[in-house]
Amino acid sequence: MTAAERSEAYILSHIDEEGELLTALDRDAHVNLLRPRMLSGHLQGRILKMICRLFRPKRILEIGTYTAYATLCMAEGIADDSLIYTIEVNDEMEDFIMKYISRSPAAGKIKLFFGDAMQLIPTLNETFDMVFIDADKRFYSAYYDLAFPIVRKGGIILADNILWNGKVFDTPPPSDKQTAGILEFNEKIRRDARIEKVILPLRDGLTVIWKK
Ligand SMILES: C[S@@+](CC[C@H](N)C(=O)[O-])C[C@H]1O[C@@H](n2cnc3c(N)ncnc32)[C@H](O)[C@@H]1O
Repeated sequence: MTAAERSEAYILSHIDEEGELLTALDRDAHVNLLRPRMLSGHLQGRILKMICRLFRPKRILEIGTYTAYATLCMAEGIADDSLIYTIEVNDEMEDFIMKYISRSPAAGKIKLFFGDAMQLIPTLNETFDMVFIDADKRFYSAYYDLAFPIVRKGGIILADNILWNGKVFDTPPPSDKQTAGILEFNEKIRRDARIEKVILPLRDGLTVIWKK
């Protein structure tokens, strides 16, 4: 085991368990889905839930549902009258997602949409306290521009994978479009005077943005 793996194992054995449903989801994803590492997982999931406990958002927008792992974690952390709008472009995920949402006591707090977030966000007609950007890395800046006006002042935006497996600090940076998209987003956030921001060195990097 590397030092990082030992650290993660120690952390996971000293925080809340993810629970039977999410453990089953995680196993199912690793056996049956392509790219199961895309789901948030135990540590990030508990952190998302804790952020919800502390920040108490009434309306959350998640861009990129995948298996609904993170959706279910956030749903655990919000009040009964709160809602998560989550958008997934790949409708082949519907059976998998519904298998787990339907078994969760928090199912009633989740509104699932299938389609391209770029087209759906402008139709939502809602103001959000919290947004979780976690879809196609090429379009992070576009998601941010679409979501920003519908986040209330004092609301937060979280963006996952902003270190992109360390590719963002490779020199020269790789020329693939995902890395370019993340680099563009990180630079945009760095320069944006309308916000306060911090990067949590969690997993693949999670930016936390507070709208002034
Ligand atoms: C990293 S996964 C999401 C993981 C999930 N948020 C979690 O933490 O467990 C990214 C997902 O975004 C979806 N996606 C990509 N482009 C999208 C778009 N334009 N609109 C909505 N979903 C999109 C992908 O199909 C994929 O399922």
